[in-house]
Amino acid sequence: MSDTIFICSKCDAQYPKWSGRCLECGSWGTLEEKLKTKNLKLKAKSEIKAEIGDVVELSRTTNHEPRITKIPTGFLEFDKVLGGGITPGSLILLGGDPGVGKSTLALQIAGGFNGEVLYVSAEESAEQVGGRMERLKDCKIGRLKFLNEDNLETILATIEKEQPALIIIDSIQTIYCEEVDSASGNINQVRACRAKLLEFIKKGKISVILIGHVTKEGELSGPKAMEHLVDAVLYLEGDKYHQYRLLRAAKNRFGPTDEVGILEMAKDGLKAVLNPSKIFLSEVQPKPGSVICPVAEGSQVFLVEVQALVSKTSFGYPKRAAVGFDQKRLELLTTVLTKRANVNLANFDVYLNIAGGLTLKEPALDLAVCASIISAYQDKVFPLESVIFGEVGLGGEVRSVSKTKERVKETLKLGFKKIILPDFAGAVKNVDLMKVKEVKEVVKLLS
Ligand code: TYD
Ligand code: MG
Repeated sequence: MSDTIFICSKCDAQYPKWSGRCLECGSWGTLEEKLKTKNLKLKAKSEIKAEIGDVVELSRTTNHEPRITKIPTGFLEFDKVLGGGITPGSLILLGGDPGVGKSTLALQIAGGFNGEVLYVSAEESAEQVGGRMERLKDCKIGRLKFLNEDNLETILATIEKEQPALIIIDSIQTIYCEEVDSASGNINQVRACRAKLLEFIKKGKISVILIGHVTKEGELSGPKAMEHLVDAVLYLEGDKYHQYRLLRAAKNRFGPTDEVGILEMAKDGLKAVLNPSKIFLSEVQPKPGSVICPVAEGSQVFLVEVQALVSKTSFGYPKRAAVGFDQKRLELLTTVLTKRANVNLANFDVYLNIAGGLTLKEPALDLAVCASIISAYQDKVFPLESVIFGEVGLGGEVRSVSKTKERVKETLKLGFKKIILPDFAGAVKNVDLMKVKEVKEVVKLLS
């Protein structure tokens, strides 16, 4: 047996033979020959001398750490998603597609932060970042310092000298640590950089915002691979060609994870959207396939338009495509409609779109998605003075969802007359409630 083994420098997959392409991550030319480590022989129990650890009864301890005070950044939506602000000494990962606005958000946070900030960028120069900063609203260049560097050792030495309260690193994929001999952006590099950074910042109470790109090919070394390594993970989602963005917490060691911030990308930076329903409904027209749904994201409830287009399949398999909604969920719902509501979509392509460019993952959208498909299939306009929400099960049953009262309240605020919703024990004044138990009742409503 040979003493060497081939390891992919990008994803750590191991192979007995060399090949040009890693079968795990699909990268070319990344397999490197390494010496095999011999299997460690486990010692017998009697050979091990172990000391017994101290077990403490938590209820008897008195000197608990005081509640951590968070530092607000001044960017209200960001603070809200983080649960009040940045926890001193924490590592926050800000992920998102290229061009979605991560650097812009980070600069706005830096501009409003009450304390010294060091902005480290390997991608852009001081002139570029300074120029952008000037365009941003409510941003003071004041105490912001900039470093154009990609070597982690230099970055850490500079931090040591400058002692900022907050460091922003743009981006984790472009910095490298000399001790690891692989290219920046590689998973081993990302791990090493993050470990060194963490060790460094925990000594002083410095906080770090790490920016990470999500790319299709680079997903392994990107934010996804780092989620378990950091204190909080925020994703800035949205289509860069649309102006709206959702800031979502995927993980938060110091606060809630179900909060979202709705932002708008304007000429002078990202701004909070204060009345999302009004904006998302501003261009709704009475057309077949257009349906309005009150959705709840975090503590926010707002109305969005769901649009569907159904057309006869002209070639091959029927297509199901979704923008802003889970493709698998759409496939599931079209099958439920075919089997349980007699809406035969077997020979029809179904396209779905959540207007405004947001990607939503809410179960309450199910019934609205079904209603919009039925409306498009029957080519009949769904009554636009009504809204619809509810989860749909595989049996075609409509299930109740959270925040029913809040959804009704928001709907009333916008002047809608009718709400189609899952059965619930409650009555509301000034509105016509239609409680549905099966998705097929929606078909009857339209025919
Ligand atoms: P950027 O923050 O550079 O994205 P990322 O760091 O996630 O790659 O911003 C991306 C886009 O935002 C860019 O195409 C231009 C646009 N933009 C605005 O519309 N308004 C602004 O004030 C700024 C700074 C950028
Ligand atoms: Mg950027």
